[in-house]
Amino acid sequence: MADVRVSLCGAELRNPFIASSGPLTYGAKGIRRCFAAGAAAAVTKTLCKLPAENPIPHIVSLGKGTMLNTEKWADLSVQQWVEQEFPALRGADGVVIASLGHTVEEVELIAPQLARVGEPIRMLEVVSYRAVDMEPMVKAAKRLTDFPVLAKVSPNWPDLLEVVDACIAAGADGITAADSLGPVLHIDIETARPALSGDYGYAWMSGTAIKPVIVRIVADICRRHPDVPVVATGGVTTAEDAVEMFMVGAAAIGAQTAPMLQGVSWFGKTAGKLAKWLDEHGYSSPADIRGKALPAIAPGEDKRPLTFFFDAEKCTECGRCVTVCAYEARHLEEGKVMRLDEDACRSCGLCVTVCPTEALTADRV
Ligand SMILES: Cc1cc2nc3c(=O)[nH]c(=O)nc-3n(C[C@H](O)[C@H](O)[C@H](O)COP(=O)(O)O)c2cc1C
Ligand code: SF4
Ligand code: SF4
Repeated sequence: MADVRVSLCGAELRNPFIASSGPLTYGAKGIRRCFAAGAAAAVTKTLCKLPAENPIPHIVSLGKGTMLNTEKWADLSVQQWVEQEFPALRGADGVVIASLGHTVEEVELIAPQLARVGEPIRMLEVVSYRAVDMEPMVKAAKRLTDFPVLAKVSPNWPDLLEVVDACIAAGADGITAADSLGPVLHIDIETARPALSGDYGYAWMSGTAIKPVIVRIVADICRRHPDVPVVATGGVTTAEDAVEMFMVGAAAIGAQTAPMLQGVSWFGKTAGKLAKWLDEHGYSSPADIRGKALPAIAPGEDKRPLTFFFDAEKCTECGRCVTVCAYEARHLEEGKVMRLDEDACRSCGLCVTVCPTEALTADRV
């Protein structure tokens, strides 16, 4: 069986899956539940100067593995974390990462208290709503503690790569990429009001829908900083999603939405499925695939037409490949005869990707 252990900033993780900051890590009890279910590490809900009071309601499922939220930071006080939650995590079977936001003043206030707590905290993760706060926060966390520091960056910053550069220059030991995407808006059409409470109903999206954005961001960061560990966080729902993140250079995987929607057993199950996928593909560890796709992420366009392959035995005559062709180039005739109008076909590739049985394939798709 493939060995799925990874190391992150000096900590050994029994698998690459980290419960990212969110409801599942609201306190020691939630974090212990994640560890018991197989999470190798957990990032606490973000500690800020004052405990959060959340609008109601503040989480909605959009279906298909995607959620919106208007949830704030930790609703437990720093004092409670320092005096009760962190001590209750001593000896827990996983790596504890303390999340710290959202300004340099708050880091200066809270980081020394976390340094005094020491064990079980193994790492800090600094996070902010504002890009400009990140560099000073990293500097302060490094100055005031001996913990390795992850800088969590937001997909909502246009200058994200410059923020990453600044955080690394300021001493960040790793990057968490990225966070929920927003602001977005969802209207409940029965009430004609925003589905979630909060200023203007503006919300932040997580889960399946944001994965391609996060894959692009992880790839951008890993191409630029190949030696800096990146915790890919956003939209990982399956073991295959984790593989994709490794292939663009991730060192470990953060997840919140999938284990929230599917239950915390998602962690152990997905770690098992990752090991199986690696085995089946002849790899012995995530290290074997780390960054494997990066050389292919390059400028330039391929313009060679696709060559299609059709396996009538696998075809169920569902007709999807025919339906999706905007150019009416594909025809399925009596007796599973697949016909392609080569003059009409633009080689867009869509028909191949909707075939549920791999009866229709093409080179390069
Ligand atoms: C309800 C909810 C609350 C969250 N709270 C925090 C938080 O307090 N601090 C933080 O850094 N990220 C927070 N996040 C963001 C997650 O840690 C994660 O970066 C994001 O959801 C993308 O990962 P996912 O698609 O696996 O959920 C929250 C996410 C959700 C869904
Ligand atoms: S590749 Fe695109 S254009 Fe060609 S048959 Fe398939 S869907 Fe139609
Ligand atoms: S999508 Fe696949 S299974 Fe469905 S008709 Fe086309 S080739 Fe056959």
